[in-house]
Amino acid sequence: MKDTLRYDPEGAVVLAGGYGVVGGEVARMLQARHPSLPKVLAGRTPSRGEALAAEVGASLQVMDLAGSAPLDFSARAVVALVNDSSDRLLRACLRAGIPFVDITRWTVRVQQALALVAVEPPRAPVVFASGWMAGVVSLVGAALARELGGASAVETSILYDLADRAGEDSIEFMDRMHVPFEVTEEGARRVVEPLTEARRVEFAGRYRRVVRLDTPEQLTLPLVLGARTVSTRIGFTDESATLSLQAAQGLGLFHLLRGDRFRGLRRALLHGSGKGGQAVVRIDVSTGGASRTAMLVDARGQAHLTAAGATLALERALGLDGDAPPRGVAFPEQAPSPGRVLAALRSLGVELVVQTGADATRRAA
Ligand SMILES: NC(=O)c1ccc[n+]([C@@H]2O[C@H](COP(=O)([O-])OP(=O)(O)OC[C@H]3O[C@@H](n4cnc5c(N)ncnc54)[C@H](OP(=O)(O)O)[C@@H]3O)[C@@H](O)[C@H]2O)c1
Repeated sequence: MKDTLRYDPEGAVVLAGGYGVVGGEVARMLQARHPSLPKVLAGRTPSRGEALAAEVGASLQVMDLAGSAPLDFSARAVVALVNDSSDRLLRACLRAGIPFVDITRWTVRVQQALALVAVEPPRAPVVFASGWMAGVVSLVGAALARELGGASAVETSILYDLADRAGEDSIEFMDRMHVPFEVTEEGARRVVEPLTEARRVEFAGRYRRVVRLDTPEQLTLPLVLGARTVSTRIGFTDESATLSLQAAQGLGLFHLLRGDRFRGLRRALLHGSGKGGQAVVRIDVSTGGASRTAMLVDARGQAHLTAAGATLALERALGLDGDAPPRGVAFPEQAPSPGRVLAALRSLGVELVVQTGADATRRAA
């Protein structure tokens, strides 16, 4: 039996993975911003989502993207908040003409999805919002570029709180620490090793070590903004963790431990305590001698900030943001009104401070 989805413009928004760590935050945000929008929370064991469903007035649905049961439902839109590893959900939505948002893809998986939409062109909006924090970095980068009249460089530094909450499905992303990736620098593409090329970057008066990380905005921002240099680096609140991960990478440990046999051990290495922390991101955009620096802080953590990105991507796909929905595929940084998006981020509880050129504390090499 094959998957059969149906587009229903009056139907529910189906959140695949909707009662996970990020999914729960998306469900709450949608309930607060669009209380009349019907919602379905889908996953393999919906009983885990009962309390959340009652809280946000959603229904629950069984869905196993890796299982043999066919997908069979109607939707106004689908948001992928769990890895769609075989592109099953994307393909079914493309065929049914259902608006689709995905926040889960690392860069090669975004490239795979782009190849798929080249073969099966979408009839409905498709927003690939898998950049850091579901495209929040891309949105802010685009807004700063709009203020500056362009961007020759977009450099992002993430301060990751090891105490922050992250679900099991998130670890897949961190599980790729041994895989080299491409970046754009001075207009040329080159391959870099993850966790290398350390810099010290200032966050709220304190310098932190940050290292290379593979994230999809390093693929899309050069294309959308024409930026000649785009980089994303990550550092951990506990600097010894950054150094240990660098050392493990240098010793080839992630490479040695790849494969299913060591999955549990890799996850133990990469998974924090998960009690809760704050999400901090710094985005430096420059062009022609002028620059802007945005500092983002979400006191409710990375899942909340990611949910803000996912919510804005869904609003974009459905035209709930006041702009016409995109025709076919779009990335968050292609939003027609990025300034309005900054206001929306603030309204979602994200602290966002923008400094101009001389006021901004410069990055130290
Ligand atoms: N772009 C970004 O910056 C960003 C940031 C954070 C997270 N993310 C991505 O967001 C995703 C969710 O992260 P999370 O921390 O919320 O993970 P999570 O807490 O593990 O949530 C995953 C959800 O998906 C469901 N699920 C798992 N396997 C499934 C399957 N085979 N079929 C259907 N549903 C399934 C789970 O419920 P059941 O176990 O009951 O099925 C759960 O509700 C991850 O892919 C992560 O990489 C992206």
